[in-house]
Amino acid sequence: MRIIIQADHEKASLWTAGYIAGKISGCNDKPFILGLPTGSSPLSIYREFIKMHKEGKLSFKNVRTFNMDEYVGLEASHPQSYHYFMTENLFKHIDIDQKHIHILNGMAKDPEKECKLYEEAMAAEGGIDLFLGGMGSDGHIAFNEPGSSLSSRTRIKTLTEETKTANSRFFGGDPSKVPGTALTVGVGTVMDAREVVIIVTGRSKARALRAVVEEGINHMWTLSCLQMHPEAIIVCDEEATEELKTKTVRYFKDIEKNAVIN
Ligand code: GLP
Repeated sequence: MRIIIQADHEKASLWTAGYIAGKISGCNDKPFILGLPTGSSPLSIYREFIKMHKEGKLSFKNVRTFNMDEYVGLEASHPQSYHYFMTENLFKHIDIDQKHIHILNGMAKDPEKECKLYEEAMAAEGGIDLFLGGMGSDGHIAFNEPGSSLSSRTRIKTLTEETKTANSRFFGGDPSKVPGTALTVGVGTVMDAREVVIIVTGRSKARALRAVVEEGINHMWTLSCLQMHPEAIIVCDEEATEELKTKTVRYFKDIEKNAVIN
């Protein structure tokens, strides 16, 4: 696992946007299959993608996206749905083909079938090239809450109180307004991506980052699955590293100083 430590959230976002833009451009005209998250963590990355696109430096014409998750029971037009979030914060500003955008339908009459079809759609594209993600304060990836199977696939999940409280800031501060369930890719789905890049910034993520990086693989911190991934990068800021050992921080900084790839 690579750990890239940047001074702050903006610098971590710029690094991540530049890294992914390089991968997209490097594909030339071949399809690039990109997994995407929502939440506040990726917002500056999306802003940078839009800026690069407006400056003519990045095209999404060959990009096909699969979002990680969606709340159950929210229409795509609901301002807190992840459909709405993605349209407003990325898709409407770039040149992606609408038919290349995939987001789980939280209104599906048959959620199980919806999840199965989603997995099939990813497989039909040849799998995910790069899954970008964030991390919940309890170490979750997508909506794979503590205790999720590390080999789970796309399915319906019940959200924990910690997640509902964290996400209530988007629902007028009231955790009871946050939907209790979501459709989410599984830990196994993320692990199948050829590459996984996770952005983790801010002090509120420090406890979970320590568990994910310094402790063993554990279903109570589902992002710790990354320890088994051959091509995983965590991009973080200094604040998020506050609970890591000084030695761990120094070690990863040293390695990156001499990194051949950047
Ligand atoms: C939600 C999303 C996750 C996201 C997490 C952290 O639970 N399902 O994909 O990583 O929130 O959100 P934030 O980036 O706002 O801290």
